[in-house]
Amino acid sequence: MTTLRLAQGATASRILGIGSFQPERIVTNDELSQTMDTTDEWILERVGIAERRFAAKDESLVDMAVIAGANAVADAGLAPSDVDTVILANCTMPTPIPNGAAQVADRIGVKAAGAFDLNAACAGFCYALNLASDLVRAGSARRVLVIGAEKLTDWIDPVDRANAIIFADGAGAAVVGPADEPGIGPVVWGSAGDVVDLIGMRDGVIYQEGQSVFRWATTQIAPIALRALAVAGIEPSDVDVLIPHQANLRIVESIAKKLRAKGAREDMVVADDIVYSGNTSSASIPMAMDHMRAAGLVKPGDVALLVGFGAGLSYAGQVVICP
Ligand code: COA
Repeated sequence: MTTLRLAQGATASRILGIGSFQPERIVTNDELSQTMDTTDEWILERVGIAERRFAAKDESLVDMAVIAGANAVADAGLAPSDVDTVILANCTMPTPIPNGAAQVADRIGVKAAGAFDLNAACAGFCYALNLASDLVRAGSARRVLVIGAEKLTDWIDPVDRANAIIFADGAGAAVVGPADEPGIGPVVWGSAGDVVDLIGMRDGVIYQEGQSVFRWATTQIAPIALRALAVAGIEPSDVDVLIPHQANLRIVESIAKKLRAKGAREDMVVADDIVYSGNTSSASIPMAMDHMRAAGLVKPGDVALLVGFGAGLSYAGQVVICP
C-alpha cells in the first residue's frame, strides 16, 4: 500500500509582528452633521465615535491592505520572501473576482504566495488568524500574513444617518509564524444564520437593524469571549488587554463590564480605538492592537483577548500573546 507523506507543522504558532494603515482624511461628527440630520452629541453618546477616516476616491481596499501588510512584515523583522501565504479578510471588495489577497501579495513582494480572501464580515480577522495558526501548525504554511482591510465608504449611503456615522475605512495586519510556546489560543467561532437579515446589503448599500444587532452583541458576545478564555486555559483575571471588534463603544464597554463581573481585572486595558477610527469591520481588531501598542497600552507578552462579531451573523474569539 502506498502511504502518503504528511506535512510537518510547527509545535505552536504566534503573532510575529503587526501593522496598520489609515487613510489621511479625518471626518468629524460636525462634518457629517452638515450633510445629514445628526449631531456630535448624539453620535458620541450612542456610538462613542468622535471621528473616523475615509479613504480617497482613488484609494482602494487593496492599497490600504498593502501598506498595513508591509508594515506587519517589517515589524516582524522579516522580508516579504519569508512569507508564503496571504489571507485578506474583508467584506467590501469592489468585485468578487479577482480576489484581493493575490494582488496584495504581489505588491508587497511575496512571490507565488498562497493567497485568498476570507469573508466573515467583522469577525473576519479572528477567523483568518485562527486559520493562519492552523496552517502553520499543520505544516501547510510557514509564515502567513493575515490582513483585515475594508473600504466601507464604497458601500454606504452617505446620507443614511444610521450607518454613515458608524462605518469607516482602514487596514490592520499580523504575521503568524511558528513558535515553541503557544501564542495563539484555540478559537471559539460560530454563526447565527437564523438572524442573517439583521445586517446586509440592499441596493448596493449596507443596512442593519441597529437595535437588534446591539442586543445580540451585548448578550451573546461576552459568553463567547469567556469560552475563548476557557479553551485556552486562561482565567479572566489573566487578561491584560481586551480587544473586541470596534462596533460601538457601548457594546465594547458592555462586554468589558460582563468580563469584569466574571473576574477580569479593573486595570484590564480595553480597546476604544473606535473613538478615533470608527467601525472598520475586519480591520478594527488588528488596527486597535497596533494603535494601542504605539500608545504604550499594549506591551509584548501581554495576554490579549480578541473577539470579532458582525454580519452573518458570525463571531470568533481567541486569546493571543501580543508581539
Ligand atoms: N443622529 C441622530 N439621530 C439618529 C441617528 C443619528 N445618526 N441615527 C438614528 N437616529 C434617531 C432615530 O431616527 C431614532 O429617532 P426616533 O426615536 O425619532 O424614531 C432615534 O435616533 C433612536 O434610534 P435607534 O435606531 O433606536 O438608535 P440607537 O440608540 O439604537 O442607535 C445605532 C443606533 C445603529 C447606533 C445602534 O443601534 C447600534 O450601534 N447598533 C449596533 C450596530 C453595530 O454595531 N453594527 C455593526 C455590527 S458589526
